Amino acid sequence: MIETKQLTKIFKIKKSPDVPAVVDLTLSVAEGEVFGFLGPNGAGKTTTVRMLTSLIGPTSGAAWVNGFKVGEKDQDIRRSVGILTESPGLYERLSAVKNLAIYANLYDVEQVDRQVEKYLRMLGLWSRRDDPVGSFSKGMRQKLAIARALLHEPKLLFLDEPTSGLDPEAARLVRSFVQELSEQGRTIFLCTHNLNEADRLCDRIGIFKSRLIEIDTPENLRKKLFGRKVVFHLREINPRWIDSIKAFAGVENVQPVDEKLVVSMDNPQVLNPQIIRMLVESGADVQFVGELRHSLEEIYLQTMRETEQEGQA
Ligand SMILES: Nc1ncnc2c1ncn2[C@@H]1O[C@H](COP(=O)(O)OP(=O)(O)OP(=O)(O)O)[C@@H](O)[C@H]1O
Ligand SMILES: [Mg+2]
Repeated sequence: MIETKQLTKIFKIKKSPDVPAVVDLTLSVAEGEVFGFLGPNGAGKTTTVRMLTSLIGPTSGAAWVNGFKVGEKDQDIRRSVGILTESPGLYERLSAVKNLAIYANLYDVEQVDRQVEKYLRMLGLWSRRDDPVGSFSKGMRQKLAIARALLHEPKLLFLDEPTSGLDPEAARLVRSFVQELSEQGRTIFLCTHNLNEADRLCDRIGIFKSRLIEIDTPENLRKKLFGRKVVFHLREINPRWIDSIKAFAGVENVQPVDEKLVVSMDNPQVLNPQIIRMLVESGADVQFVGELRHSLEEIYLQTMRETEQEGQA
């Protein structure tokens, strides 16, 4: 669906140093995947989306979108993808229906009325369909822009921060909508600052700051950066059990915290049953066992810290 090879964009501004916005990005996003593109302000996320939707040309490198090469088949690319841009331009004085209809005609959508109605209803804007967009709230505009991106039923969608500036309710609606689109089998390239959002929605996440720093599933990112930790909640702790757990091959560390033992290990599926058996046989009351999960936020901040340290070294 998306394939990039050392895709690079360097902005050249007169009398100022060049801005390397995207450097050597090599990436592939498979059909049906929800890919999260995560990075701080100015990381180059929007620039990447603009290149992949043929709105700006790369400085070097290459990319293919839906099988079409960027720079050669730009018209085909633009017709085959849906884009929600950072600040979607809408015709303020025209109604929601008119806004969508103009766009639908531009994209040669068949059955314009039906498509416009379908998406206005789906996004909860049907009752406001005849109001001028100038009277819409920020969230309503965002929803209208999402509807616009979908009118021609693209299989591949670029969503640049779809929930930014939305209240929790509207953000949740948009998120569940993204989920629904994914369940319909669409491929989604999602730029976001919202780490929990990426965690919930994305199959894979690329952490990006001009360069791709990490790319993996949310689960593997957790494992890679923090290892796996299992928490054993016990009624009380006998210090001898700590040494017994440490003696298992594959256990890296055991940390007592209150009435809990936090055990770092590679392979909990194999080790947990053995540790539980040992604890029970030694007379421990095992109350709960669970995995300690790091939030994606911690992972992201950790990754950024490591990258900055490498940069300074
Ligand atoms: N048209 C342009 N001319 C010059 N520099 C640009 C242009 N567009 C973007 N840049 C620069 O490229 C860098 C990346 O910007 P970009 O908008 O892609 O970041 P972003 O990751 O989308 O950030 P945000 O999270 O704030 O939306 C920034 O340093 C920005 O100033
Ligand atoms: Mg951006």
